[in-house]
Amino acid sequence: RPRVLSGIQPTSGSFHLGNYLGAVRQWVALQESHDAFYMVVDLHAITVPQDPEALRAATRQATAQLLAAGLEPERCTLFVQSHVPEHAQLAWVMNCITGFGEASRMTQFKDKSARHGAAATSVGLFTYPILQVADILLYQADAVPVGEDQRQHVELTRDLAERFNTRFGQTFTMPAPYILKETAKIYDLQDPGIKMSKSASSPKGLVNLLDEPKVTAKKIKSAVTDTDTVVRYDPEHKAGVSNLLTIYSTLTGATIPDLEQRYEGKGYGALKTDLAEVVTEWVTPFRERTQAFLDDPETLDAILATGAEKARAVAAETLAQAYDRVGFLPAK
Ligand code: TYM
Repeated sequence: RPRVLSGIQPTSGSFHLGNYLGAVRQWVALQESHDAFYMVVDLHAITVPQDPEALRAATRQATAQLLAAGLEPERCTLFVQSHVPEHAQLAWVMNCITGFGEASRMTQFKDKSARHGAAATSVGLFTYPILQVADILLYQADAVPVGEDQRQHVELTRDLAERFNTRFGQTFTMPAPYILKETAKIYDLQDPGIKMSKSASSPKGLVNLLDEPKVTAKKIKSAVTDTDTVVRYDPEHKAGVSNLLTIYSTLTGATIPDLEQRYEGKGYGALKTDLAEVVTEWVTPFRERTQAFLDDPETLDAILATGAEKARAVAAETLAQAYDRVGFLPAK
């Protein structure tokens, strides 16, 4: 079976609809056909300041949401990044073959450092993508299911894998991004020109999966569209409506042409009212399942312990090989 690896940050507490549609939904599907490794990336989370207690809680909460979304510990390896020390260890090696200029071109760093200000920008935030490179290469992943915003990091991974393999001999599998065109970028409900995100979206533009379903329904109903009335998929000219159609289509399985036909002559109001119901029907049981996992922290921790053990077996082997290739003396 080909292998996939991906990760999600625990920082936010609740995942948002972009995380789910852009990434987690694909993770669930891929566990059926792939040898799948999924992790909660707490090492990445601390590249910006975190409250320790809140981080611990958010890590469990992220795990619970992944299980609620449909990941099954029998079908995939689900773990927490910091439980597998090899991530930090391989990251160091990868840091040492990355050019400073190359790292400086990472757009996520530019965005985030601009948002946090120079004084709050850590070196960890700068090297963040290189840790992600190590995450992927440790598992010899063939594919990396992510949203569009992570493409550049997967490209960097390919560059560094190639560089390492050329310099030290074939060691790492060349990974490919796995990005579904339809859901690669879910947009902010209030500003369909920007992606939905925890940090950049206004509260009304962001659908948190763990919010009260009523709050979510209201946000969908007040989504910004345009002054036209025709329900048509046209991301360039009708970004707001197209975003709603993408969400609708993905959550229900109805095709976009089906939906266009269904809302012909009905206008945006009907579309939004129905979509609010579709989303409510999805988030309501999702929240309940998440809570049920959170109510049983022992089971949750046991799942993560098993996941870490399975992950380490793979990661340790790759790290040992990489250490040997770069010329580290084996510890006797
Ligand atoms: P993170 O935690 O920001 O996001 C998790 C996943 O959600 C996707 N995503 C979106 N997809 C579509 N539309 C949106 N509006 C949207 N917002 C977020 C992201 O693309 C991502 O797939 N650096 C990564 C975590 C990471 C990782 C890895 C991923 C660490 N190591 C190794 C893959 C492989 C991140 O911050 O994702």
